[in-house]
Amino acid sequence: MMWRSQIAGCGGYLPERIVTNDELAARLDTSDAWIRQRTGIGERRIAAPGELTSDLAVAAATSALEHAGMSGSDLDLIVLATATPDRTFPSTAVKVQARLGMKRGAAFDVQAVCSGFIFALATADNALRLGQARTALVIGAETFSRILDWNDRGTCVLFGDGAGAVVLNAVPLGNGGSASRGVLSTHLHSDGRQHDILYVDGGPSSTGTAGCLRMEGREVFRQAIQHLTEVVDEALAANGLSPADIDWLVPHQANTRIIDAVGRKLGLAPERTIVTIERHANTSAASIPLALAEAVADGRIRAGHLVVMEALGGGLTWGASVVRW
Ligand code: UT7
Repeated sequence: MMWRSQIAGCGGYLPERIVTNDELAARLDTSDAWIRQRTGIGERRIAAPGELTSDLAVAAATSALEHAGMSGSDLDLIVLATATPDRTFPSTAVKVQARLGMKRGAAFDVQAVCSGFIFALATADNALRLGQARTALVIGAETFSRILDWNDRGTCVLFGDGAGAVVLNAVPLGNGGSASRGVLSTHLHSDGRQHDILYVDGGPSSTGTAGCLRMEGREVFRQAIQHLTEVVDEALAANGLSPADIDWLVPHQANTRIIDAVGRKLGLAPERTIVTIERHANTSAASIPLALAEAVADGRIRAGHLVVMEALGGGLTWGASVVRW
């Protein structure tokens, strides 16, 4: 039997502490005006000392499970996307598994940086499609504040901490109208030749330290617009759809100029795009599920809507998914 994954619930969590652009400008050679004009970011959340990626993930997961009317014991798969795990090993996902009271199935992390949520969604969706799991939790959770060089104005102003999660349920394909909803397709790409334009200059096998994020911003910017436009086209074509069919584009939130450029190239009205970057900044793997949780909670995304998600991150990695909500 073939199955399709349907989204049963979603949720997000942001740490309490808000750091404004002005607060950064007080100790760095930057300004609120520069950050807003060049990125669209107004503020970001920063995890409290001792508040770990797993804590953010559990909070987002709990909210998503509540939204789905389920509990941790209903799950048989957790796929958690993060580039900022609590520890090198074990995975952050197994800590979340224990704290949610899930005693069966499997939990593991995937690592595709800012594209992580799309890669995790694809991994879980494929397992559900094949009947390997019935109910999955897909989480994007990050504490990028811990891997930033707070003296590098070119990167530290861009990122924030947060987590988002969705619960997926497998439903049999061909089960009347209901199976027309759900994850229609996922599309993953990477180009390892670009591994050194966005990376962290540490790690267990190289320096033995966690390291700091380094980025050639302009080059990432250029490649992001190109790859994201291509992968959305690819995702739509795979489903016989066109940009006019999109109810909501939910992009990774790295830069409003990237989001606007991709929207323009697709010919999409700006009000069809979910944008959270002003308040969240770039939360890496958490940005898409956080945006989904907001837009579902405030009633923008509703049952039957066609939602297209896209992201690009270090690797380079990039991907997209088409979901009939
Ligand atoms: O999520 C993963 C994917 N990541 C991305 O998609 C990020 C992609 N890149 C970007 O979003 C943009 O390239 C940035 C926001 C990182 C930078 O914007 P930009 O328009 O490409 O600026 P730039 O790097 O070309 O820098 C322009 C100027 C430079 O000064 P000079 O050389 O022209 O004098 C920078 O030193 O802006 C300067 N600058 C800043 N000034 C004030 C860089 N950062 C800052 C800052 N405040 N925070």
